[in-house]
Amino acid sequence: MCGIVGILGNTEVAPLLVDALKRLEYRGYDSAGVATLHDGQLDRRRAAGKLRNLELILNDNPLPGTIGIGHTRWATHGIPNETNAHPHRAGNIAAVHNGIIENFRELRHSLAENGHTFESETDSETIVHLIKREMDKGFKPVQAVAVVLKMLKGAFSLAIIFGGEDNLMIGARRGSPLAVGHGEGEMFLGSDAFALAPFTDKVTYLDDGDWAVLSRSTIQIFNENDELVERQQTVAMASAQVTSKGNYKHFMEKEMHEQPEVIQHTLSNYIDFASGKVRLKSELPFSFKDLRRITMSACGTAYIAGLVAKYWFERYARIPVDIDVASEFRYREAPMEEGGLSLFISQSGETADTLASLRYCRENGQHIASIVNVQESTIARESDAIFPTIAGPEIGVASTKAFTCQLSVLLSLVILAARERGKITVEEEAELVQAVSELPKFIRQALKLSEPITHIARRLSKVDNILYLGRGTSFPLALEGALKLKEISYIHAEAYAAGELKHGPIALIDESMPVVVIAPFDGSYEKTVSNMQEVAARDGQIILITDEEGAKHNSLEDCDVVVMPKVPEILSPIVYALPIQLLAYHTADFMGTDVDQPRNLAKSVTVE
Ligand code: F6R
Repeated sequence: MCGIVGILGNTEVAPLLVDALKRLEYRGYDSAGVATLHDGQLDRRRAAGKLRNLELILNDNPLPGTIGIGHTRWATHGIPNETNAHPHRAGNIAAVHNGIIENFRELRHSLAENGHTFESETDSETIVHLIKREMDKGFKPVQAVAVVLKMLKGAFSLAIIFGGEDNLMIGARRGSPLAVGHGEGEMFLGSDAFALAPFTDKVTYLDDGDWAVLSRSTIQIFNENDELVERQQTVAMASAQVTSKGNYKHFMEKEMHEQPEVIQHTLSNYIDFASGKVRLKSELPFSFKDLRRITMSACGTAYIAGLVAKYWFERYARIPVDIDVASEFRYREAPMEEGGLSLFISQSGETADTLASLRYCRENGQHIASIVNVQESTIARESDAIFPTIAGPEIGVASTKAFTCQLSVLLSLVILAARERGKITVEEEAELVQAVSELPKFIRQALKLSEPITHIARRLSKVDNILYLGRGTSFPLALEGALKLKEISYIHAEAYAAGELKHGPIALIDESMPVVVIAPFDGSYEKTVSNMQEVAARDGQIILITDEEGAKHNSLEDCDVVVMPKVPEILSPIVYALPIQLLAYHTADFMGTDVDQPRNLAKSVTVE
């Protein structure tokens, strides 16, 4: 979603704000803006489009001042033009906002009745007008903000500055993340510690409902009841290093190639390879042995990781798993038996629907565990147990390495659960661990298929529709393949469980329809191949992703085959993620789309 930053500094802040926004651009990139105070006077620059456009405007027309706020936007209300870009301003007040003000229509209506006029179509502009109205009544900035925060419904994080107040910045968070950074005679606000990393690693994460009054040397934090509270200062782990693409053309390409290494790091957190056992670093607040059910909830690619794990947990650990996309689960009013395990999967740890599902499960007496890539995130902080992925920052909007690291963590937990429930012997656990230890090697081998996949991608880049099919754990992978392709190439793609083909989608098949079939040579292979024959009989163009054995058993002549290394069955959903990522990547690259920042998307979805 949107990224926000604020700096109460001692040097010119506009360039620093832009630097911080570059680190937040993954949260939205359809417009950007900064506002500063210079000699007490408020001024701002804004631009539609990428941050680069704002930089060009600032080059021509610099913005002096040592206090300022900045914003990079993912539009919710109002098209992404300059007028709707943040910071929004009313008189002497400027604010940047991430989130959605749900009651903005009624608030706007009441402001309009009081003579306020609006320049934008955004919900965010309402906030600055509300503060102005309170200040016009005689309230000081801090009192005015306290009053206004109570009027707002919805989710938000805010950074606000005031003309004439050179040593004051107010931040607030409800639902959307906000961190305070502590410098030497300087203070910072940011959507995450990653944005603040070039300035400071001393960070205080605001709790939900908190708001903070900052000067260059002091910080006062109030809770939602306006009581002064203490919040712990921590040292953030985010790296200050400016993330670079190195020799790769895109972050996505770099992140795909990082997978052998980050999977290795992640696994070493869960598995003691020397003893052939899964071993967690800390004790769990629940036992897999006693669990009657696991409920999983997540969004997008993280949901698909959970879907793979459902097959694993049910098959190997014999635990029933209920899984749903978080945007449905949160409103489903699912009955839950006390003491169950609810497991949430989220790269960012900030996804609004996943967080809301977590809170629902907490209210319903569940143990809360999460698999997150950002250990300081809200979802991590609200969990009883955290299972980190050690994927490092994922900058490409399309998730790749976070997905395979999520699967690696889930697989480790499945082996642990199977052991604790007595479903595998010591020897079987050692065998599984031995198989898992080879994952990085298999991923490296799969990456070598980039070249042959490029040739298929060149052809796919010219089509309008593609189908993906798979059975068993290859079905979620088909979903992931279609999602990845849609996201970055904008080609319409659908995925089906292979057995569902004849129940409807087969009507789509003709000579213009490419069908990607994911079928390692396992127990489902023959069945999937029959579905593939059904496609071939209707002239569909088949791209079969299988292993050497599968390729040998394939009797179709007129089809492309991507030949994968032979891997133990339990590993195939992780290793087969690679060819579908590569296929999506190269197709999008041929089409010349913005692979790392595809249109309409944002990396961390903090609104419903
Ligand atoms: C797809 C993708 C998204 C995310 C989804 C959840 O490539 O990245 O579908 O997986 O928005 O995000 P997190 O994992 O941050 O909760």
